[in-house]
Amino acid sequence: MNDKRKQLIVSAIQNGTVIDHIPAKSVFQVVRILGLDNTEKQVYFGVNLESKKYGTKGIIKISDHWFASEEINKIALVAPSATLIEIRDYEVTSKSSVQIPEHIEGIVKCFNPNCITNKEDVSTRFTVIRDEHDELKLACHYCEKNTSRDNLMFI
Ligand code: CTP
Ligand code: ZN
Repeated sequence: MNDKRKQLIVSAIQNGTVIDHIPAKSVFQVVRILGLDNTEKQVYFGVNLESKKYGTKGIIKISDHWFASEEINKIALVAPSATLIEIRDYEVTSKSSVQIPEHIEGIVKCFNPNCITNKEDVSTRFTVIRDEHDELKLACHYCEKNTSRDNLMFI
């Protein structure tokens, strides 16, 4: 495939945000976490695109929208490799990596079925920790059980 055709896979945007290098399998989770399934803005996305660094990747482009860092960092749990690119007048004006936040509120369920957040109308709160194997875990503020990345369930 020549370069011209490759560029047309997901078209360039004039103004807005590009979230690049998303693991292909996490694109739809990222869409949900950022509420892009329920927006009036123009959103383009691609999955299973070629990536030199990661083999395959996903990408999301949102026109005329820029994210606050607390908002974009919510995706770090499912897309720690993601790059955030801001576009103004077709030019890349900034590029940064997502950062894993210290606290997560209201986007993930507690794994413990007996936790108050699963029994009553209480929204979840976690502190992000690393276990002895350097795996990310979410320590529940209420029941103090840890939810691992494999058990992540989004609300
Ligand atoms: N992009 C876009 N609209 C623009 C400019 C750039 O959608 N007007 C997208 C490109 O498609 C690319 C990303 O923003 O996915 C980063 O652009 P650029 O830095 O030009 O691309 P690369 O050099 O390929 O970046 P990297 O090597 O970091 O992947
Ligand atoms: Zn809990």
